Amino acid sequence: MTPTTPAQHGPRVIEAAAPPDRFARGRHCLGLAADFAGATPHEVEAFGTRLVVFRGAGDGALHALNAYCPHVGGNLAHGTVKGDTVACPFHDWRWSGDGRCAAVPYARRVPPRARTRAWTTLERNGQLYVWHDPEGNPPPADVTIPEIAGFGHADWSGWSWNSLRVENANCREIVDNVVDMAHFYYVHYAFPHHFKNVFDGHVATQYMESTPRGDVDLGTLSTGGGLRSDASYHGPSYMIDRLWSDVGGGQESLAADVFTPAPARSARSGPAGSGSARSGPAGAGSGAAALAPLDRPGSVGPRPAGPRSAPPPAGVDSAGAAPAGAASAAAPSAAGPPVVPEPAGAPAVADVELDGRLYRLAWDRGTPLLDALLAAGVPAPYSCREGACAACCCRVLDGEVTMIRNEVLDDTDLAEGHVLACQALPLGPAVRITYG
Ligand code: FES
Ligand code: FES
Repeated sequence: MTPTTPAQHGPRVIEAAAPPDRFARGRHCLGLAADFAGATPHEVEAFGTRLVVFRGAGDGALHALNAYCPHVGGNLAHGTVKGDTVACPFHDWRWSGDGRCAAVPYARRVPPRARTRAWTTLERNGQLYVWHDPEGNPPPADVTIPEIAGFGHADWSGWSWNSLRVENANCREIVDNVVDMAHFYYVHYAFPHHFKNVFDGHVATQYMESTPRGDVDLGTLSTGGGLRSDASYHGPSYMIDRLWSDVGGGQESLAADVFTPAPARSARSGPAGSGSARSGPAGAGSGAAALAPLDRPGSVGPRPAGPRSAPPPAGVDSAGAAPAGAASAAAPSAAGPPVVPEPAGAPAVADVELDGRLYRLAWDRGTPLLDALLAAGVPAPYSCREGACAACCCRVLDGEVTMIRNEVLDDTDLAEGHVLACQALPLGPAVRITYG
């Protein structure tokens, strides 16, 4: 037998550290679907950032995107719904519900790879949900929000919605209650005489029957008789609670408790029950922990720790309409820290196809392709010049390049050879590139 140490017999110490640095996986309710109507987009604080929610005028669907425009950061929630897109208030770039850039009104070319994060939405029971997975996976087919029998029926009232913000909360503190019978006596002034938990897949159900404590006067609730509650969590952030109360001769109501992670180390919360209507679905709010800002989607590598390696454009030879030669094929750099070559050595030869013309130029080792092109008088497209908007996106046909920074292209884009000209540096002796 292994001897135990005094520490193993010591008192349990509740951890007082900061909550874990992630948000729960599951469908999170952002509110009542009807509250997101209109030509004005809506701003929602959630998951450590801000989302913009809008209903497409043509497709009629509710869309949720990251609110900060990937161009240079305009808040899309302050923009306008135009057709099935939301238009940024800063430069009017239009963003579709799938996160793609649909139009740049003043530009001759829409950046084909420009995108922002689009959240998977679900509209059900008159509520809007978004799916969140810290690992970026889509929702499994069997993990969804069930349709509530009675919702929309004339025998039931509509939702009554209340919300409450809870600072420094962790969603686990709320969900833990599903197995906690004793707290009902002290927190809810109810005396449980039947209590059972059933776990079925991702659904956790608490069955409880109680009577009010006789020593606490809660008005009608304390004198109205018994309560039966069947409460099911469908994931960590959404609970449907069917309630049968003896109050007033008998009432049936339904509450949905939703927990929406808000900013770091705080949470919005709306405990249940308030606004419950006779024979009608009851309102609810939200509550959960939010612990860290999310990365931008499609980001494939950390920003380099040092400053950008972008020396002033070097003087290069340029010549329009020169035939493009080929070089050895290699993929542009993928995820991970960028490989920034020393800005030394002979320039690479770049053959660039743009708008039906071919350009050949000397590409200095430490000079981003966009800078080299502009210095050579080639009218290459660009916008942010920060690796964030994809307005400068082009594709490597032959040769090898790396990027200083990439916040917008994903692994698929990179595998297809797309690079950001404002961040691209040559690795090989010759590179062939197209903007087609
Ligand atoms: S910041 Fe949104 S279009 Fe420029
Ligand atoms: S990523 Fe915006 S101009 Fe290159």
